[in-house]
Amino acid sequence: MRTAPHGIRRVTCIGAGVIGGGWVAHFLARGYDVTAWDPAPDAPEKLRRLVDAAWPALIQLGLAEGASKDRLTLAPTLEAACADAQFVQESAPEKLELKRSLLARLDAATPEGVVIASSTSGYPMTDMQTEAADPSRLLVGHPFNPPYLIPLVEVVGGERTDGAAVEWASRFYEAAGKSVITMDRELPGFIANRLQEALWREALHMVANGEATVKEIDDSITEGPGLRWAFMGPCLTFALAGGEGGMGHMLDHFGPSLKSPWTRLEAPELDRELRDAMVAGCEEAADGRTIADLVAERDQGVIDVLRATGRLPGAAARGSAPQNSGAPRGGNARRDGSARQGDSA
Ligand SMILES: NC(=O)c1ccc[n+]([C@@H]2O[C@H](COP(=O)([O-])OP(=O)(O)OC[C@H]3O[C@@H](n4cnc5c(N)ncnc54)[C@H](O)[C@@H]3O)[C@@H](O)[C@H]2O)c1
Repeated sequence: MRTAPHGIRRVTCIGAGVIGGGWVAHFLARGYDVTAWDPAPDAPEKLRRLVDAAWPALIQLGLAEGASKDRLTLAPTLEAACADAQFVQESAPEKLELKRSLLARLDAATPEGVVIASSTSGYPMTDMQTEAADPSRLLVGHPFNPPYLIPLVEVVGGERTDGAAVEWASRFYEAAGKSVITMDRELPGFIANRLQEALWREALHMVANGEATVKEIDDSITEGPGLRWAFMGPCLTFALAGGEGGMGHMLDHFGPSLKSPWTRLEAPELDRELRDAMVAGCEEAADGRTIADLVAERDQGVIDVLRATGRLPGAAARGSAPQNSGAPRGGNARRDGSARQGDSA
């Protein structure tokens, strides 16, 4: 029996390491009853330490009504943890064989219809759902570390997943304060990890060839584009590199340099179709905002991030910049300037 996404009160977390423990902290802070199970003998103490460490930041974010660390139950067995689950989040080690058999066991132990999500960083659900009696309710809900601070969850089903389960999970994560991307197909590394991987490969190439130091690479992001990426993605950011001509001018102007040997990754063919898709995608993402609107939003965003991270000249002296407080930095910029549940103080 599948409860409506907004009606969920009990969540089960299987595997309580870095990610599973982070999910536990998130769901507790959002006011759910959470049952956790992890086979490691020291898992209960480790989990309580993780939740205790996360709690001050979660208080700053704002706890949901009734949220309490006391609403965590540690189950003695997987079967006990799943017996009355309304949603299951699996965060066991990233090993395919383990995931396959664990998901089959979770499917057998969990009430009919209840959705079971895996935190996997990269396995397609098609490859993981092979042993389950009911693969239709198994899907990926890929979080970012730590799940109690980073809003994004990428949701995607496998070939044998029911689309209704994917839809349900997306609505549930939203109700639980997450920012959801629902993918309509399986993609190696999903979306964000694929982008991170490209950056990571280049960083490794540069270090391997002695072209840049680790510090230079990190500074190049935190003192450069990383400031923009906290609130505006790489596509809209590049659209502004085209001035008043936006993405169209940017591609016409800098398109040829895609072929210059900057990157160790193979460049895509920048044909008309790709160009048009990029221009249309940016227009859609701008959602009616003019280039001038976006420039103003970007500039204010950078100032806000600089202020929040104590890098605005004079900010530290005025004592207005919390540093290393564990508080979320920046937040999710929205056009109306409002905060979203669970991702901004
Ligand atoms: N670490 C990250 O940044 C990150 C980010 C997103 C997703 N993930 C994914 O989350 C999952 C967990 O990764 P992690 O970083 O938390 O690993 P981790 O090693 O910190 O935690 C794994 C936990 O699973 C427990 N475990 C071992 N065997 C188990 C079993 N059979 N059933 C249930 N639990 C079992 C371990 O005792 C441990 O506590 C992986 O699929 C990983 O790819 C990790």
